[in-house]
Amino acid sequence: MDFTNYTKFYPDIAGRFGEYGGAYLPPQLVEAFKEIDEAYMTIAHSASFINELRRIRREFQGRPTPVYHCERLSNKLGRCQIYLKREDLNHTGAHKLNHCMGEGLLAKYMGKKRLIAETGAGQHGVALATAAAFFGLECEIHMGEVDIVKQAPNVTRMKILGAKVVPVSHGLKTLKEAVDSAFESYMNSYKDSIYCIGSVVGPHPFPMMVRDFQMVVGIEARQQYMEMTGELPDEICACVGGGSNAMGLFTAFLNDPVRIVGVEPMGRGPKIGDNAASITFGKKGILHGFESLLLQDDKGEPLPVYSVASGLDYPSVGPEHAFLHDMKRVDYTSVTDDEAMEAFFMLSRYEGIIPALESSHALAYALKAARLNSANSILVNLSGRGDKDIDYVVEHYGVGDQYKI
Ligand SMILES: Cc1ncc(COP(=O)(O)O)c(C=O)c1O
Repeated sequence: MDFTNYTKFYPDIAGRFGEYGGAYLPPQLVEAFKEIDEAYMTIAHSASFINELRRIRREFQGRPTPVYHCERLSNKLGRCQIYLKREDLNHTGAHKLNHCMGEGLLAKYMGKKRLIAETGAGQHGVALATAAAFFGLECEIHMGEVDIVKQAPNVTRMKILGAKVVPVSHGLKTLKEAVDSAFESYMNSYKDSIYCIGSVVGPHPFPMMVRDFQMVVGIEARQQYMEMTGELPDEICACVGGGSNAMGLFTAFLNDPVRIVGVEPMGRGPKIGDNAASITFGKKGILHGFESLLLQDDKGEPLPVYSVASGLDYPSVGPEHAFLHDMKRVDYTSVTDDEAMEAFFMLSRYEGIIPALESSHALAYALKAARLNSANSILVNLSGRGDKDIDYVVEHYGVGDQYKI
């Protein structure tokens, strides 16, 4: 497949990436999503919207974020040189703000009063609460009770920023249930609210819109890496929950001779309920209004999922990832909780950077590749910083002395 001008053709007008994507909506939401699509296609391509978003990224978010060469870590592992795209240095500490500021600006242009969303690790919730404060909008964040405990600092941040946090107590009380709850709230208030989905998932136009807002990551990274080294990296990689930080990085490299690797959470292992590796084990199905690969039982019901990283435990994945997997343009692999934890401590001790548990999955893949000498250079999307995770990590893994670092 030729990837020249890829984003112009994918998704198609119905929001499909090949056989995945689309919009499977209850009748009362069809108009609401059409309104968002139309507004995005007109407003977001206007010079004033683009200029305003550029100004926000520069003056408020602190973009561009740097690319950093991990010399000590690379030397420790072998000859492969590891580089990081430092999305952890984005204001609020993760890539999520890239699409939240875009979604917030769109909501403002559409005259909406309230932003609604789900959150897993709390990063999307914090980023959206930040966008709401910036634009003077109300904000309502739905979060599973398990994640509320696990990511307590982010819950406090959302509240300080003025958001209403709605605890979700059904099912596994994690990300999937938070999406169910946010959708329900949106159904009752779509006239004056907008549902700001936190990844490249959900009904069209969200997988496209969130990807477009995240593309800044890859565009910057490609240019910065070329300026630093004079060439392209052998490989790029990113963790894949819903897949927004991965699409942000990958899109700019699709037409390049670069191996692209998406890293899924294998959690405690391959048994049902012990991981959230939707591409590795999923089958085609529909959840939350879009068609993609889905971890599901014989009746099409989503299976329970788990990962040490709250932002990765979702039973499906963005439809574009399912498509790029089928097209064999992106290779998908997985790492376990333990491998991610080792990477978490390695980056902390060798480079002085504490990564988010989600981002530690991408890094763990890079460590494996460096030890195997299977690439000369890897650019990793460091999607977020680990401040939100340290209480949980210390309680369950100590300060990392058990790892032979
Ligand atoms: C730091 C960080 N990275 C990655 C993710 C996973 O989301 P996505 O796959 O959409 O990038 C999350 C989700 O909360 C996150 O907080």
